[in-house]
Amino acid sequence: MRRTIIVGNWKMNNTIAESVELATAIAEKVGAAKPECEVGIAPTFPALHEVGKVIEWSGVKLAAQNCHYEDDGAFTGEVSARMLAAAGCSYVILGHSERRQLFGETSDIVNRKVKKALAEGLRVILCVGETLDERERGVTGEIVTAQVVEGLAEVADISNLVIAYEPVWAIGTGRTATKEQAQEVHASIRSTIEGLYGEQAARHLRIQYGGSVKPSNAAELFGMPDIDGGLIGGASLKVEDFMAIIEAAG
Ligand code: 13P
Repeated sequence: MRRTIIVGNWKMNNTIAESVELATAIAEKVGAAKPECEVGIAPTFPALHEVGKVIEWSGVKLAAQNCHYEDDGAFTGEVSARMLAAAGCSYVILGHSERRQLFGETSDIVNRKVKKALAEGLRVILCVGETLDERERGVTGEIVTAQVVEGLAEVADISNLVIAYEPVWAIGTGRTATKEQAQEVHASIRSTIEGLYGEQAARHLRIQYGGSVKPSNAAELFGMPDIDGGLIGGASLKVEDFMAIIEAAG
């Protein structure tokens, strides 16, 4: 059985103090509720270390939103996977569509980051998803398959990998993919993984859905056979909403 995984991607929100306050509240609730699902939060870089300290006891996992593919050196403004691991991160989100679209991340760059993060012992949440234009042109399957294949080039072992399917048109728009639309893409991702890594690896891979997940639609999405949790943006910034989504995941 795959363990459902819910991760809050805080994006560029919250100061260190605000992050610690939100993380403390989430840790208290998750620590008390002891949900069966795995829970993580991804604050901004400056807040990682402090947030890590207040969530550690609760089982909530610390995640970063990005990393660089080199260990150190002259890369002004960047943070390496090695530094994230040392800061207490369990997970790193890579290839988010905002990184791809706003910061020019190609699949090759994403692939280098994936390889480095896995080599540093981090678990990777690899984000894939089509734009509205791509969906309307009927090329969703091809786009998502290419992102999976290219993102995982030369990756031999995917036991520390999670894939997040995030249709770009559903991110921050309030427009969620229907459970059938999401399930169709998740099943196709799983079959791509089966082709690359075999049946057992595909069966074990967790595939999260992301894009306007909220308390009102979480349960129906998570109820689909190939949807193994969620990567939550806006709703993860509100304790009550995030907890309701965790409850929906069981
Ligand atoms: P929203 O939940 O705000 O749509 O964001 C989804 C997302 O991008 C998570 O990584």
